[in-house]
Amino acid sequence: MAPLRCWPGCAAGRCDCVEGRVITTVMTMESAVGDGKATFGHIYDQADPRAYYRALGALDYEIPQQAYPIFAELLDGLDCSPATVLDVCCSYGVNAALMRCELGIDDLFRRYEDDALDQLGPAELIESDRQFYAGRQRAQAPRVLGLDLAANAIGYAREVGLLDNGWVENLEAEDPSPELVAAIREVDLITITGGVGYVSERTFNRLLSVFGDGPKPMVAAFVLRRYPYARIAQVLAEHGLVTKQELGRTYPQRRFATQQEQDAVLGALDALGIDAAGKEADGRYHADFFLSAPARRG
Ligand SMILES: C[S@@+](CC[C@H](N)C(=O)[O-])C[C@H]1O[C@@H](n2cnc3c(N)ncnc32)[C@H](O)[C@@H]1O
Repeated sequence: MAPLRCWPGCAAGRCDCVEGRVITTVMTMESAVGDGKATFGHIYDQADPRAYYRALGALDYEIPQQAYPIFAELLDGLDCSPATVLDVCCSYGVNAALMRCELGIDDLFRRYEDDALDQLGPAELIESDRQFYAGRQRAQAPRVLGLDLAANAIGYAREVGLLDNGWVENLEAEDPSPELVAAIREVDLITITGGVGYVSERTFNRLLSVFGDGPKPMVAAFVLRRYPYARIAQVLAEHGLVTKQELGRTYPQRRFATQQEQDAVLGALDALGIDAAGKEADGRYHADFFLSAPARRG
């Protein structure tokens, strides 16, 4: 496929004209795949994120850290200060922590693995975390809004100040509330890591419908290779966004939890005609990066 025009990150060196990476439009049809993914539902909605960071740290979870430089580059390129981000499937605010604070994901793993925290109840940890994050704010921190099904995770992220606001709504099933609609209208960039597969084109359609004929935000998505993105790209196109995929590079997400999980992924990728050699075949999930932007930016 011929390389197309560069997306806004080009000037910062993220496209084929600078580093040999090819960005191309997403136009393939997708086929349904099964899942087989290890379930972490028990850690997604606890009163604080200790179990989440401990479980995912043990699997070398890294997609938020991989995504952060790209989100930062996109934010730098926006003509607004502070920019407003909506992080979809935001959980306890891990992407918000990286975008807003001088922290890497390893700092978060270290903090929540610390046995000393075992002495604290959730309310005490929240108070401690509020101070922890407040003391590490980046100079040009964006506003970050969050959307997730997990009420405790959203509540935590709001209370510690990682999210400026957050909503517990399921846009797979229902239209956004009036409060969420008003907030979405202020969004410059929608981000998602680890969320596609949980959310589909239905969520993106409801998010983008809010903007009507007005200016639209960009959508920056890190998507496991086993979840085809074409339906989401198609819906975004119907809302005037052109989706491009970064080719020639994938982003490791985490180690597989079990052999069974790896086998299921390898089978799904094989069915999709995706070569897993050197990536999932070596033991880690890999994600593709997609950027959708209004056509005039493309
Ligand atoms: C794998 S976690 C990803 C969390 C975070 N973005 C990260 O990269 O670590 C998936 C998240 O999606 C959330 N989720 C599942 N279904 C959802 C839905 N329909 N709408 C919003 N969030 C959803 C879960 O509660 C969970 O927090």
